[in-house]
Amino acid sequence: MTAATACRTCGTELREGARFCDGCGAPVTERDAHAEYKQVTVLFADVVHSMDIASAVGAERLREIMADLADRCAAVVERYGGTVDKFTGDGIMAVFGAPVALEDHPVRACLTALGVQEEAKRLAADVKNRDGIALRLRVGLNSGQVIAGEIGSGPFGYTAIGEQVGMAQRMESAAPPGEVMLSESTARLVEGAASLGEVELVQTRGAEELVPARRLLGMGERHRPAGRAESNLVGRRWEMAAVEGLLDRATDGHGAVVGVVGSPGIGKSRLAREVAAMAGRRGVEVFTAFCESHTSQVPFHAVARLFRTATGIEGLDAPAARAVIRAQGFDAESEDVMLFEDLLGIGDPEAELPRIDPDARRRRLTAWVNAAALATKTPVVYVVEDVHWIDEVSESMLADFLTVIPQTPLLTIVTYRPEYRGALAQVLGAQTLALAPLSDPETAALVSELLGPDPSVGELGQTIAERAAGTPFFVEEIVRELAEQGVLQGKLGAYISTAEAAEVSVPATLQATIAARIDRLDPKAKRTLSAAAVVGSRFGLDLLTRLGVEPEVADLVAGQLIDQVTFTRQPEYVFHHPLIRAVAYEAQLKSDRAELHRRVAAAIEQREPDSAEENAALIARHLEAAGDLHAAYGWHMRAATWATNRDIAAARLSWERARTIADALPAEAPDRIAMRIAPRTMLCGIAWRVHMSVAGARFDELRELCTAAGERRRWPSPWRGW
Ligand SMILES: Nc1ncnc2c1ncn2[C@@H]1O[C@H](COP(=O)(O)OP(=O)(O)O)[C@@H](O)[C@H]1O
Ligand SMILES: [Mg+2]
Repeated sequence: MTAATACRTCGTELREGARFCDGCGAPVTERDAHAEYKQVTVLFADVVHSMDIASAVGAERLREIMADLADRCAAVVERYGGTVDKFTGDGIMAVFGAPVALEDHPVRACLTALGVQEEAKRLAADVKNRDGIALRLRVGLNSGQVIAGEIGSGPFGYTAIGEQVGMAQRMESAAPPGEVMLSESTARLVEGAASLGEVELVQTRGAEELVPARRLLGMGERHRPAGRAESNLVGRRWEMAAVEGLLDRATDGHGAVVGVVGSPGIGKSRLAREVAAMAGRRGVEVFTAFCESHTSQVPFHAVARLFRTATGIEGLDAPAARAVIRAQGFDAESEDVMLFEDLLGIGDPEAELPRIDPDARRRRLTAWVNAAALATKTPVVYVVEDVHWIDEVSESMLADFLTVIPQTPLLTIVTYRPEYRGALAQVLGAQTLALAPLSDPETAALVSELLGPDPSVGELGQTIAERAAGTPFFVEEIVRELAEQGVLQGKLGAYISTAEAAEVSVPATLQATIAARIDRLDPKAKRTLSAAAVVGSRFGLDLLTRLGVEPEVADLVAGQLIDQVTFTRQPEYVFHHPLIRAVAYEAQLKSDRAELHRRVAAAIEQREPDSAEENAALIARHLEAAGDLHAAYGWHMRAATWATNRDIAAARLSWERARTIADALPAEAPDRIAMRIAPRTMLCGIAWRVHMSVAGARFDELRELCTAAGERRRWPSPWRGW
């Protein structure tokens, strides 16, 4: 072991015997200076025509621009767990997989490459405004074996060398401005996770022969790596062992349903991610769908989401999605396939759906999906998260689906909060894992991992552990809050503190901690977060722009309030945790929120005018939250009409909503009686089909209303003349 000579974080030369870097405050870690072979992905990013820029703006300004760019790039590299190897003068070189080995180094490098291009675009907009020049970046990646270690004994530091480094640089030189080019080896490693261009033969700097390369177009959301910020899993040993055993059995053809139950922030999603990683290591595919609080009234939302991911059509337009489904061997002419496509929201508008009764339709769909599951030979893990928010129709469809799981090689995990008592919490034969708070030693382990070993944070650590009471998310949020306040200085995992622990105020509840962090945001970022909270847990920037909000996400991503999940031209983000969204939502004035809901409803309608019927339930829900009751009523009725041929239970729910709204209208509201009658008429009309109790009360009520309105002719047809 030798002492480091330069800071690993910022490169500043270190004083003899120093424990912290004078430049950035990071702790000085000794490390093995031995060179080793490592499997890595190397990233080169380089500014296009930097010399021309230099002559246009002068060296001083160029330096400023490059410094800004380097900082931004370094932040992205760090977010994905890479190491900035060097600043090359007009770009950077970064390595993923050394000094610390990373299993998914190619995926992280790809996410970083796209993130770096995003940052460069953001900076380019400023530069364009100020200097009137175009700033563009080429990025190249290559994966393979390198030798990594300290170079010599001088101040050169740790670096990676080898042929593979040169190849990454050659890929960079071949990338078109603004794009990312992958060598064949990287492309092969990320093929399943990334969307790639065709193989091209490219000419690279300093080489005669053409080399094959592929452009990186985007990353699928399934491959969101945890990033460096995710701490090591503490505890949960037996839970993991139990699920591992069930996965083994599933692989042998005896599938299982596992319910993971626990309060918010206790670690349900984390456990599901750990299981997904375990499955991934065994080559078992994992598909995850999230239920969300604001779509719990939107019929089919959850099942459609699940099957959309499972069939790999997420993000595709309808014709492309249909092509994918059909490429999986499903017969396009089959009525069942047509019904399935319609369920996924990708039905062919030209094709005529089979004219069958909604009940029969549901039975057929269930039978078909179950038959497909029973025919499955390869093990798959399905995760349905937060089913306490599942919509009723999805809940019952999934419950049907889960009955066949034991005879399939499928492992299905559903997560929910303890208050959920629905059908998915009562699946026969399901295993339930109730997640208890972390034990004191486990909490202490988590705290000390996040804070680091410095004695100055010891006492504070104890306060944090006490306050968090075994909820890991609370631990993380308190640490972030204290870091943002400046009480903790340095970096995650290596903090120091100069404050007296007794004088530090630690928020008392998880909600208060999150609220404090949100309050500290700059106004633009805060507005972005507030608007996003109204849109939903997943959102794109285009929708925010339509709401009249100028989105500012960099700080939100850096502070882990939100995570970027797709890196395509229209990037999408999700709230890091549902509680963050809930706090951001609740903190807003009701009137502000109402206005945003109104605009979201309008934006959804305008953005996808062709899918207005399909989105009707969602639009209705936003209008209801906006307090536009008349409009919400209208959309609920539209949603019901759309659903009548698809699922009668879904239609019933929409009519019930419409009925509730109409009943709550003030007595003098115009059309109130007619509005109260219409959904009741429909509900009575379908009562016998959904086995609703048709006790006289409903009919009597309807008769009374109709009499009051003098509208006997409005009686629903089956009962006309009774
Ligand atoms: N056992 C654990 N060890 C370390 N971190 C954990 C553990 N359980 C949860 N976390 C972290 O706590 C945070 C909240 O956990 P999450 O799984 O999102 O909670 P839930 O889904 O139950 O609301 C996440 O950042 C997660 O990584
Ligand atoms: Mg969760």
